[in-house]
Amino acid sequence: MFKKLVLIFALVAVSYAGTCNSYEREQLNEGYKPCVYTDTKGNPTVGVGFNLNKPGARQALEGVEANYDAVRNGSECLNDGQIRTLFNDDMAEAVSCVESWLGSSYYALGSDPISAIADMAFNMGCAKLRGFVKFRAALTESPPDYEAAAKEMQNSVWCQQVGNRCQLRDIPCMHG
Ligand SMILES: *[C@@H]1O[C@H](CO)[C@@H](O)[C@H](O)[C@H]1NC(C)=O
Repeated sequence: MFKKLVLIFALVAVSYAGTCNSYEREQLNEGYKPCVYTDTKGNPTVGVGFNLNKPGARQALEGVEANYDAVRNGSECLNDGQIRTLFNDDMAEAVSCVESWLGSSYYALGSDPISAIADMAFNMGCAKLRGFVKFRAALTESPPDYEAAAKEMQNSVWCQQVGNRCQLRDIPCMHG
């Protein structure tokens, strides 16, 4: 029973993972830290970029049977399974953000572009991604204008801030 559940969960997990938002890629983008650390924006963070200040963080930690306060103060660290579950839920949220933002146009995109946009949502948050109005316009054209979308990424403040994550990883995923 447990194995079956794990298998179903793994299948769900891979259904939204492409080149640019896979677990392996996000470990490269975000790092992999079993114990709490402070990220570049000053947020207490754990695992693969899991922000302990975000709404719902306490419930998410409780959901993987971790003690939020103890993880936050560094007296408890997470194991591989806990880190992966937190990541899967976080990334599922990022993908839902992209799906609702792009509406039916989402389904015309390939898995590589979706994975890059999901990485952007994962990295900057849904609200900030929604500010990329011209980017969205390019992606909702029929067929999607990946070149224009990539240009919007390239010219963004976000791209300057994250550097290689944008230029060498996410932008190359923006192709038909
Ligand atoms: C960390 O948090 C746990 C759980 O609330 C608590 O029992 C422990 O005393 C705290 N440790 C420190 C060093 O603050």
